[in-house]
Amino acid sequence: PVSTAGGDEDGVLEVGAMGANDSSATETISTAELNEIGLRFEVDGEIATIVLDRPDKRNAQTSATWSALARIGDNLPEQVRVVVVRGEGPSFSAGLDLSMFKPEGVPGQDSLAAVATLDDTAFDQRIAEFQSGFTWLRRPEIVSIAAVQGHAIGAGFQLALACDLRIVADDVRFCMKEPALGLVPDLTGTKPLVDLVGVSRAIEICLTARIVGAVEAVQLGLAEMAVPAGELAQAVHDLATALLATDRAAATATKRLLQGAPARTLAEQSAAERVEQVARIRALFASS
Ligand code: CAA
Repeated sequence: PVSTAGGDEDGVLEVGAMGANDSSATETISTAELNEIGLRFEVDGEIATIVLDRPDKRNAQTSATWSALARIGDNLPEQVRVVVVRGEGPSFSAGLDLSMFKPEGVPGQDSLAAVATLDDTAFDQRIAEFQSGFTWLRRPEIVSIAAVQGHAIGAGFQLALACDLRIVADDVRFCMKEPALGLVPDLTGTKPLVDLVGVSRAIEICLTARIVGAVEAVQLGLAEMAVPAGELAQAVHDLATALLATDRAAATATKRLLQGAPARTLAEQSAAERVEQVARIRALFASS
């Protein structure tokens, strides 16, 4: 694996084809900058891996983490088809860096007290920027997999929920802690949580801020699979390999179709299947 894929010798992540029309995609991000924020980005062929790499702080996340995630998404090398998100150390992520609650915040970054003074439009825009670090993981062109061990609290839980698939270690401890801290989960986690477990169970999990362990996570559909902690990396690699065995265009079209299904009627979904299949069959015979 090479660290900082698509980069040159100085470790600068180059602008990729995806998101090339987005103004933020013109920005590059260096390995040193990522390290400073507590992230690593590695690419091995069609698989990219984002590593939360502040194990001494249980991979706590800051606004810089979310901005960097957004920039990684904007600059994702075009060949990448699978994105793995994992955490270094005993925990996937302990969520929001609690220093952001202090008046001085995290050095050089937002404190919650500082963003609280923004006007409504600017405040909304700021949170939208944070959320953009998470939403790109659902793009149809890629499949994202969260490899989750230990604690996945608050923003950590939401980052796992932002991925298409979750493989968990048997020691996983999901917790939506935001309401217990006077906040709401706002990093795009509420929609996938409700889609996966239903409104009632989501209310119970969020408003009690209780721990959801591996067995229950699989039972609820929050995780695709639970494995012994020592087998997590191999299980994720095996899944990524299986996903890559499928034709890319067909995989993209199928993911797009499946993602749209919950919001469509049967008739609308049937029509969407026809549209995708017409394009697929034409493409197959055009290339044969
Ligand atoms: N922010 C900053 N530092 C954190 C942290 C966090 N969220 N979580 C852990 N750390 C730090 C600890 O302060 C400690 O640092 P020092 O060694 O310098 O003292 C180090 O990480 C190790 O922590 P612990 O000794 O507590 O490790 P543990 O393995 O015994 O416990 C834990 C792990 C259960 C995650 C515990 O650390 C914990 O409860 N952390 C706080 C979790 C939390 O409340 N997160 C906020 C969620 S809400 C959210 O995320 C809001 C949002 O998105 C909008």
